[in-house]
Amino acid sequence: MHTSVIIPAAGFGERMGSAIGKQFLSIDNVPIIIRTIACFQRSRLVDEIIIVTREDSFALLEELISSFALSKVRPLVKGGARRQDSVALGLRTVPDVQDGIVCVHDAVRPFILDATITQVIEAAGHFGAAIAAVKAKDTIKQSGSDGRVQQTLDRSTLWNVQTPQAFRTSILREAYAQAERSGRTATDDSFLVESIGIAPVIVESSYDNIKITTPDDLLLGQLLAPRYPL
Ligand code: CTP
Ligand code: MG
Repeated sequence: MHTSVIIPAAGFGERMGSAIGKQFLSIDNVPIIIRTIACFQRSRLVDEIIIVTREDSFALLEELISSFALSKVRPLVKGGARRQDSVALGLRTVPDVQDGIVCVHDAVRPFILDATITQVIEAAGHFGAAIAAVKAKDTIKQSGSDGRVQQTLDRSTLWNVQTPQAFRTSILREAYAQAERSGRTATDDSFLVESIGIAPVIVESSYDNIKITTPDDLLLGQLLAPRYPL
């Protein structure tokens, strides 16, 4: 099995509001994106890592990759306007190998367990598609446009979805080709795969696997970092 990991890292981090992209902010002196890449560098199942980022970040990132000796990283790929475009651009550089797997993971989720990476990739190998998720902790209700509750959803069936998400390469290529043809947009890759009639398997992950999105996530990140040494 050959596994390529695509790490979309071309966002502006508008909700973080920092001067530099949030993926380059440091937690305990290590840039978030380096913490994330290191998790995949360590995984025995990962063969290569494709980072998609903005061209004005290439020089900084290349320097960091070489100083942290992240040898699985391939030449950097220029990102697009939306996350979906960035992943599509990364996908174009994934080699066509038989039984290849592509795993997609947000640059800004640095606290990922090795077991989760392994389980998601192995499940994608067996079932074609797999996603990391945690059980919903809160009760979730659906509202109407009038702001009133329409229904209370059954919590035992609800999951908060994360990355990594892994797929047989042929499946993810088909999902992206279809999305391009139909103009479909999605905030995660799984939705595009679901749209071509494939139901990804859910792999139960950890609540530590947060997406660093707003300044309060950085505070939480400071608390989590000691549990995830480089
Ligand atoms: N991303 C990307 N290309 C884009 C937009 C986002 O590669 N055009 C990446 C981000 O860099 C991040 C991941 O997708 O690693 C998840 O996106 P998000 O958390 O939304 O990051 P940003 O888009 O940077 O943040 P914001 O939405 O607050 O601007
Ligand atoms: Mg965004």
